[in-house]
Amino acid sequence: MTKTEIIAKSNQYMMAQARHQLYEEPLIFTKGDMDMLYDIEGKEYIDCFSGIMVVSFGHCNREINEVIHKQLDTLQHISTFYLSEQMVELAEKLAHITPEGLQRSFFVNSGSEAVEGAMLLARAYTGNQLIVPVNHAYHGRTLLTAVSTNVSPTGDIDPRAKDLDIEFAPNGYCYRCPYQKTYPSCGIQCAHEVRKQLQQENHQNIAALLVEPIQGVGGVINPPWEYLREMQTIAHEFGGLLIVDEVQCGFARTGHDFYSNAIAGFRPDILCMAKAMGNGLAVGAYIARDEIGEALKVPTFATFGGSPIASAAALATIDYMQRHDMPGQAKKSGARFTEGLQRMEEEFPLIGNIRGSGLFIGVELVRDRITKEPAKEETLAMLEECKKRGLVIGKSGQKTNVLRIGPPLVITDEHIDKALDILHEAFLVVSKDFGLER
Ligand SMILES: Cc1ncc(COP(=O)(O)O)c(C=O)c1O
Repeated sequence: MTKTEIIAKSNQYMMAQARHQLYEEPLIFTKGDMDMLYDIEGKEYIDCFSGIMVVSFGHCNREINEVIHKQLDTLQHISTFYLSEQMVELAEKLAHITPEGLQRSFFVNSGSEAVEGAMLLARAYTGNQLIVPVNHAYHGRTLLTAVSTNVSPTGDIDPRAKDLDIEFAPNGYCYRCPYQKTYPSCGIQCAHEVRKQLQQENHQNIAALLVEPIQGVGGVINPPWEYLREMQTIAHEFGGLLIVDEVQCGFARTGHDFYSNAIAGFRPDILCMAKAMGNGLAVGAYIARDEIGEALKVPTFATFGGSPIASAAALATIDYMQRHDMPGQAKKSGARFTEGLQRMEEEFPLIGNIRGSGLFIGVELVRDRITKEPAKEETLAMLEECKKRGLVIGKSGQKTNVLRIGPPLVITDEHIDKALDILHEAFLVVSKDFGLER
């Protein structure tokens, strides 16, 4: 099919919701190879978005795919009504690599399902209904996870949230601190405001607080570690659990196998994962402490959850992550990328804030560093300019003004430097076009 035919078929046969594209003219890819993508016209791109933080260990990674191919030809699918060696081995592995105390897994196919499952489990375990996500959260597109999401440009909360016992609390957004304070002298007021809100609304018993350690779709917002620890204390004070959504952070992206493992003494009650878990194969899970995982006795199943093929993919992915020290690699390459961006910060006033961890990097763009007016049009222009030059990056943030940079963790130094050169050229063009030069 030609490019024109593919676009025409998409416009004719795909739902409006599914036609959401990053660029004015959709990009059509035909091939991927580790940190590179190739479009239908053969043009090559350095991939700094990894299919929304999924192919963390590279497109078509041969070591991982070899295991998948073998499994595909041996046993593909049986459903969770039967056991397979791959599924139980994966469950055991997750118990070992996630924070201490997390032991029992349930396998699903996506991040949304993992978070929704965790929410239902928390309700069953505590006997309470109220779930408290935080501002700028993104948790998915099932009903419960969609109403627990707060990334619409207006910042409006889904009107169905109240009826579904969902209530939002403050997040830890240091760059735009609503209390005009600075960490650490702020004493993590944002977390204490969560407690205050629950007290004021007289919520004695909640089911869970729900947090992403670093908010991805919300704008790569990374609260201080103390905020996350305090959120757990608060959840327990109000009779609830802390659900940590590591769908985007997990599997070495942040420079740690799981971000929760980096925070001393931090042990989520339930942890959700998906995205990079199968390096491109649809696999997700939520893992809970022993007693929580045993709380929900009503039999259930997920038809595809933990299939031999998905489990084999996840096992091969984890094996690759460990053998090649991917957390270390993400740390090292993340530092190289971030330092390159920091050098540009001095040259381009458009750059308001650079943040993140490992190769999970956000660059918040503003029209004015004092007023911090979000630079949405400029962000979209940056994506287009990068695309022209052979670089794929993402965007995020409630106001769509954050560049989201998340290459496969196997990205080479040469490609990081080339990506930085392209970003530099794009900043030059966009700053000039929008009259935002120094
Ligand atoms: C933190 C987080 N949770 C959940 C999800 C939903 O995952 P999925 O799109 O696989 O359903 C996403 C997706 O971007 C996410 O970033």
